[in-house]
Amino acid sequence: MKKSLLLIALLSASVAFAGPPAPKKEGIEGKDYKWNAQEGEKIEALKLKGDKKRGEEGYEICGACHLPSGAGRPDGTFPQLAGQHTTVLIKQMADIRGGLRDNPTMYPFAVTLTDSQELADVSAYIEGLCIPIEHGKYEGADAAIQITKGKDLYEKQCLECHGKNGEGDKAKFYPVIAGQHYKYLLRQMTEIRDGHRRNSNPDMVKIIKPYTADQLVAISAYQASLTMPGNMCKTKAGKKK
Ligand code: HEC
Ligand code: HEC
Repeated sequence: MKKSLLLIALLSASVAFAGPPAPKKEGIEGKDYKWNAQEGEKIEALKLKGDKKRGEEGYEICGACHLPSGAGRPDGTFPQLAGQHTTVLIKQMADIRGGLRDNPTMYPFAVTLTDSQELADVSAYIEGLCIPIEHGKYEGADAAIQITKGKDLYEKQCLECHGKNGEGDKAKFYPVIAGQHYKYLLRQMTEIRDGHRRNSNPDMVKIIKPYTADQLVAISAYQASLTMPGNMCKTKAGKKK
């Protein structure tokens, strides 16, 4: 199969590939930046109906890092994708492909999706996967205290967008965070706070700017404890029922 051969080629270091696009000046620091501007392949993909069957094929190459179940890895290197809203997946991938979010590790794979239809297909497939019940949690001895502290902050400042159960908001491009790995959450929030994830929602950036490292730990511990009813897998093996 074509994609598997491509995967082997991409994974072998002997093949030289064009690097990711130079970071765009736009982004949260650019004065003309408009968050989530409705343009380019993103709006095209959002208008199309994704075909899960074709998406499953397109996803094959992604499973090498995000795993076939879409579970990602508890060490926080690769995020969980399973169950993420199609809108969020399409936005993040279009931003990565277009140089608005830096992801040099994934870039050569993100560009294997040939067009907006393939973006829509893969996103439909991923959204349909159940969210694995086992994922990286905060493992310190003080977990209960951290989770309580984090819950308080989350309910005051984040629930409005990311929802009571971490379900996000599909229509508004707010990500599902339920089931996400603790270490990935902590890393992303630190990057968003420090202005390194340039495609970030400016309202969230404003809220998170004054957070201390300790507060980020607490709020990540809480988010990693959330479960999203109806979307979580029923068994460890990843079956929905
Ligand atoms: C070589 C490993 C690798 C491959 C293959 C890969 N990714 Fe990724 N992906 C990553 C990494 C690393 C990140 C997290 C980047 C960061 O830390 O900001 C990521 C992030 C993402 C995100 C953003 C998730 C979020 O929570 O914001 C999406 C969506 C995504 N990948 C989809 C895909 C799809 C679809 C494919 C297949 C076409 C794919 N990835 C292939 C490594 C990979
Ligand atoms: C105004 C709505 C809004 C608020 C308030 C908000 N967020 Fe976000 N958040 C977003 C959006 C949108 C993204 C996706 C980044 C992007 O592309 O803009 C995001 C991304 C994230 C991510 C990364 C998820 C991923 O899959 O990579 C985490 C973690 C997160 N938010 C946690 C929080 C926490 C914790 C708070 C409260 C302190 C918060 N957010 C407040 C809208 C919001």
